[in-house]
Amino acid sequence: MQTRRDFLMRATSSAFLTTVASRTWAEPEPPQSRLVARQASVQLAPSAYPQTEIWGYDGTMPGPLIRVRQGGRVVRRLLNDLPQATSLHWHGLRIDNAMDGVPGLTQQAVATGASFDIDFVAPDAGTYWYHAHNRSMEQVARGLYGALVVEEPERPDVDRDEVLILDDWLLNQDTAQIDADFSRSHDRSHAGRLGNFIATNGQYDHSLDVRRHERLRLRLVNAANARIFELALSGLNGWVMALDGMPLERPQPLSDTVLLGPGQRADLFVDVVAEEGKTAYLVRVDNGEGFVQSAFPVMPGSSNARVNMPDPLPPNPDMGAPDLAQARRLRLHMGGGAMGRLRSAVLDGERRTFREMAEANQFWAFNDMIGMTDAPLAELSLGEPVRLEIVNDTAFPHAMHLHGMHFHEIATDGTLGPLRDTLLSYGGQTREIAFVAHNPGDWLFHCHMLSHAESGMMTWMRVV
Ligand code: C2O
Ligand code: CU
Repeated sequence: MQTRRDFLMRATSSAFLTTVASRTWAEPEPPQSRLVARQASVQLAPSAYPQTEIWGYDGTMPGPLIRVRQGGRVVRRLLNDLPQATSLHWHGLRIDNAMDGVPGLTQQAVATGASFDIDFVAPDAGTYWYHAHNRSMEQVARGLYGALVVEEPERPDVDRDEVLILDDWLLNQDTAQIDADFSRSHDRSHAGRLGNFIATNGQYDHSLDVRRHERLRLRLVNAANARIFELALSGLNGWVMALDGMPLERPQPLSDTVLLGPGQRADLFVDVVAEEGKTAYLVRVDNGEGFVQSAFPVMPGSSNARVNMPDPLPPNPDMGAPDLAQARRLRLHMGGGAMGRLRSAVLDGERRTFREMAEANQFWAFNDMIGMTDAPLAELSLGEPVRLEIVNDTAFPHAMHLHGMHFHEIATDGTLGPLRDTLLSYGGQTREIAFVAHNPGDWLFHCHMLSHAESGMMTWMRVV
């Protein structure tokens, strides 16, 4: 018979990027550690296949899990050991603009052999991630990302806290190597680069041993270039506790599915209700069919059954609710792509027909402008309330990500939805977001379907 101790040891040794209950909560960060972006080989595909060459932080994929307490400092020296320039972006963090990692806007790209010193304070508890932001459609697809967990001051009542990074890879089916054509015009003009190999934490057969009645916190991160994950639970009773790092006022029972667009995160609390000897699952729903995204075999023994639904996570520091009546109104019209209505748009100051755009491998425009412009979409004053209408006049979904600040979606009844940093919008939809311009700097606003960003869907806002 298996003892509880055996189980804990096994759980420890099989854990990948996980923390078990016995680990101390928030160890202090070493003062200056390095994060090396470099090539490495990992066994991504099943063992009958060769190893896959990836690019990863410290040569791992996902990169090292960074955990820090709320209000704690993240200090790292990024070293670039890649064959091309890179930069590092902290997705969803309301930090100093100089640490945002956007080449050409907030810093220079870090050349091969060069380094960049990262030093910021993490203001909000929650689940965040970091990823390359130079040639992102290539560098993220090659594996340059990891999770950043900012811990609440008090540990929430869960037995375990697990990060699950979801990604899809486009692999050659014989060699298991990453398809190196990152600028295919079909991907750019349609739904983006979709992979043929789906993994959690880099493991296609990702599995975590659990016990009946355990309550787990699952921190889900969608690191894919373009795939929208639709997720459901089986053998697990769950609640959505936070979205894009920010706690919901009330936990939301997860009875149906949760959608995660590229860049988005969801924190779930799940109670294991499957019987001992059975397996619970995080299920990926694809065209109405269910696939295993992660498996949770139920081991002998059980945790204390919790009868109550979880308390909400503590709120993060107030960033001020935008006053909608006073708010400055902005509009973002998204046009272009295959099957779209865009006839022409402006690239580098010159109007191009859609055919000329396609010849330049550019397919999308925001307010008639393709890609980054010298002038921002808007210059906002610090503290100014903003409402921004986003019109998706294309045939595809887009995941619009605002750097440096979270926003609320304005519901049709005029109320404010939960704070988010990435809005998943479907073709034909008009949605409206609102926020207070509370973080000074130049902030990128782009589609997180990374080949869309690369082919026109990128703009920025200035807060002064
Ligand atoms: Cu997750 Cu501009 O990035
Ligand atoms: Cu897009």
